[in-house]
Amino acid sequence: MSNVVVVAIDGPSGSGKSSTSRAVAEHFGWAYLDTGAMYRAMAWAWLESGLPIEQADAVAAMVRNVRLEVGTDPAAPTIHVDGTDVTATIREPRISTEVSKVSSIQQVRDDLIARQRAAIAAAPDGIVVEGRDITTVVAPDADLRILLVADPRARVARRAAELGEAATGAEVTDQVIRRDRDDSKVTTFTEAAEGVTVIDSTHDDLPTVVARVVDLVEQVLVEK
Ligand code: DC
Repeated sequence: MSNVVVVAIDGPSGSGKSSTSRAVAEHFGWAYLDTGAMYRAMAWAWLESGLPIEQADAVAAMVRNVRLEVGTDPAAPTIHVDGTDVTATIREPRISTEVSKVSSIQQVRDDLIARQRAAIAAAPDGIVVEGRDITTVVAPDADLRILLVADPRARVARRAAELGEAATGAEVTDQVIRRDRDDSKVTTFTEAAEGVTVIDSTHDDLPTVVARVVDLVEQVLVEK
């Protein structure tokens, strides 16, 4: 294991993993890698390409040729696809709805996993990496591995608060519940692998969860 501290945080949509991961990275002055944003960026590139999703080989080849630049500052994460800033665009509901189609192509996953590992290897001091398969596939040897969970009802309520009044109840439920179903076809992120610490945030606010993770990181730093 290198001297770079790697913290891996997996969890379903609305579990609070993005806010938690960013806050923890900021606390320690480390980098932050949002692997979901990478899948979203590739979904955007695919929609722009007009390729039928059934042509998995062609979609994977397109993805392989995409230049992806991921800004890992937790205060202002960014993502560019072939020079186009898609940081805001990838949060649009049309991307949330379509992204599982792209992330379920294994060749796409293999490509992004390699890029994610390269980003982790390039981190100067430490990095907090969030996603669905970080604790199991991307960085199973991370210094600290956490699975952040919360009851579906709590996750729907959080997404509703994030999306604001513009979103209907059905849209919010779709973004959480249907995506759980679609995502679970691709990765196992609802059960913790051996050695992974489960944190249930159903009844805790963000500062409480962040404090718990910071404590766990402090323990790792003492041992390292
Ligand atoms: O975390 P998110 O909602 O931004 O993730 C977007 C999509 O990418 C989601 O459908 C799950 C998928 N994803 C994945 O398959 N593996 C990851 N490591 C991260 C995200």
